[in-house]
Amino acid sequence: MKKIVFFNTKGGTGKTTLCYNYGWYLADKRNKKVLFIDFDPQINLVKAFGNVPPSALEKGFERFIVNYLKRDPVNLAEYIVKINDHIDLLPSSNSVSQLDEHLTNYLLNRAGREGQVYQALHRNIIIKRVLEEHLRDGDYDFVLIDSQPNYSLLSTTAILYAQNIIVVVRPELFSYLDIHYLFKIMENLEEKFEIKVRIVCTIINAFERRRKMSQTIVDGFYKNFGDRIKILNQKIRYLSAYQSSITMERRPVFLSFPASEATHDILKAFQEMDVLVDRSTNGTDAIPE
Ligand SMILES: Nc1ncnc2c1ncn2[C@@H]1O[C@H](COP(=O)(O)OP(=O)(O)OP(=O)(O)O)[C@@H](O)[C@H]1O
Ligand SMILES: [Mg+2]
Repeated sequence: MKKIVFFNTKGGTGKTTLCYNYGWYLADKRNKKVLFIDFDPQINLVKAFGNVPPSALEKGFERFIVNYLKRDPVNLAEYIVKINDHIDLLPSSNSVSQLDEHLTNYLLNRAGREGQVYQALHRNIIIKRVLEEHLRDGDYDFVLIDSQPNYSLLSTTAILYAQNIIVVVRPELFSYLDIHYLFKIMENLEEKFEIKVRIVCTIINAFERRRKMSQTIVDGFYKNFGDRIKILNQKIRYLSAYQSSITMERRPVFLSFPASEATHDILKAFQEMDVLVDRSTNGTDAIPE
């Protein structure tokens, strides 16, 4: 089971758009079984599916963890929404960020009862362990996580659990700073949890051919980071089809607009990505404790 998180500390780079499209691509074009998990209180990924019933949203990821903390017997299948034969979704609600408080209170109570000291990192470890206990290797081919754009309990847990990051960048002023910040976060998590975090690849999204600055910044990415991260050769251009396919049709771009330039870019990028995903995730799924 390959676990991947779409991440960047910068907002609005296209993480949700690419996470959603990649999952559909794996399911539709490669016959893979995919679980999406929305780790973002904005729940844009959940909204992209459009047809999730409110009753399912009341369950989801947050309820699953909270019920686990209450020592209710939890069955993950009851919290998952089936989208089609190949795609499942573990949704979140806007209040998923309250997990932070739930876990802090839980650990404080436990500390009082047991006379033990717990640290902030135990909150991450609990979420990771619960997911590992309930998501077994054969359940899915891929678990794809959409993360919020910051350093938080949720985003760091997503990285800790998946350990494989796909970075989505937009060639804009200051985007270098985001990559530097990402390296810092990775080093911090690797040290704290004694794990190896891998950047599967970096996707350049919303590239504007007619804007010279777009190309200048891309050249800068290669110059500054080319030896540390694999940047996909295929850039994703700025094209309205990415937005309209999700907001109007609730479908990936290659199903909504199969003959479009947007479909051309994204399928070429994903084919290139497949090789890197295999390389990054193969045989390295085990997480050192
Ligand atoms: N290649 C593209 N061309 C044009 N519009 C795009 C492209 N990629 C994403 N968008 C649009 O940009 C906006 C932000 O995209 P998206 O929500 O995927 O970013 P995000 O990184 O997930 O944002 P956040 O950090 O808030 O979670 C959306 O309206 C989306 O439709
Ligand atoms: Mg998003």
